[in-house]
Amino acid sequence: MDESITATCIAPINIAVIKYWGKRDDKLILPVNDSISGTLSTDQLCAKTTISASPTYTETKFWLNGIEGDYKTNLRMKNVIKTMKKLAKKKSPKNKALKWKLHICSVNNFPTAAGLASSAAGYSCLVYTLAQLYGIENEDLTPIARLGSGSACRSLDGGFVHWMKGISPTGEDSVAVQLCDENYWPELRVLIIVVNEAKKSVSSTNGMSLTSTTSELFNYRIMKCVPERIRAMKKAIAERNFKDFGELTMKDSNQFHACCLDAFPPCVYMSDVSHRMAAIVHGYNKNAGETCVAYTFDAGPNVCVYLLEKEVRRFVTMLAAFFPCDAYDEGKFVRGIPIKYL
Ligand code: DP6
Repeated sequence: MDESITATCIAPINIAVIKYWGKRDDKLILPVNDSISGTLSTDQLCAKTTISASPTYTETKFWLNGIEGDYKTNLRMKNVIKTMKKLAKKKSPKNKALKWKLHICSVNNFPTAAGLASSAAGYSCLVYTLAQLYGIENEDLTPIARLGSGSACRSLDGGFVHWMKGISPTGEDSVAVQLCDENYWPELRVLIIVVNEAKKSVSSTNGMSLTSTTSELFNYRIMKCVPERIRAMKKAIAERNFKDFGELTMKDSNQFHACCLDAFPPCVYMSDVSHRMAAIVHGYNKNAGETCVAYTFDAGPNVCVYLLEKEVRRFVTMLAAFFPCDAYDEGKFVRGIPIKYL
């Protein structure tokens, strides 16, 4: 009799409006600052993971987008699996599946490692799928997702999520909490504009380490700006105040990239097209007489635009006028995503 068990889940990406950048502990992935993000719906950009556990498997293996990875050297994945098994054992000590090796298959339906939060979707999906596989319910999985990739802890909930840095050296208070759910601001949309699908040259992990050790601006950001912005962003979300929300989002993205450029050697994530996009958004807002569109850039050149639904058509039409057809195609490059978790 085949005793193997299998679970499949999908998980969304999240786009930070106050960015996480810098760690106080590299192994436990504890951040130096709080961050806030919006979780996108899973219908367009997501990771899908299938895990099976079987007494017949001789080793744990994983495949990402059909290509086998090296599990033995993947310390983060090993740490996540070890921690999940420990939790599962505490809940049901007799679960024999905990002794079995795993086969893990994950696919992203968007460019992997191009600064589009692929690790956030991937690790939140890994953790959630393992929880299904081992029957773990009613547990806060965010500190375990965090062990895979910091931003992953914000993808386990819909709506807006606040990841608190915590102060404990062991990290138990570094958890993500939902500020409001996916139905809270129904008019909000995110456009993901892929300007370059190539893998980024400096990973987030290396970029944040370099920035925190060499940038002088970085301390100012962490000590002064981020705490104030976290408070202001929570207020803007609570009031559904798009103007404040959008301005804080753009300012925080700009400051995060300024710190990256202040690293030595500098980490350059935004491209000329990214800068043009930012200028277009500012021009658009000036024309409109108010902030109704906001850009944000993660560790890559691709643009995430937060805006209200009533603005989408006008903004996308305007964008098409700026970018020639070979650089812009509504079907392929721009997707309007209602911000919710399904
Ligand atoms: C710019 O979560 O990818 O997207 O914890 O080292 O895996 P690691 O980094 P990661 O960093 C994401 C950085 C960011 C900002 C954010 O999502 O808050």
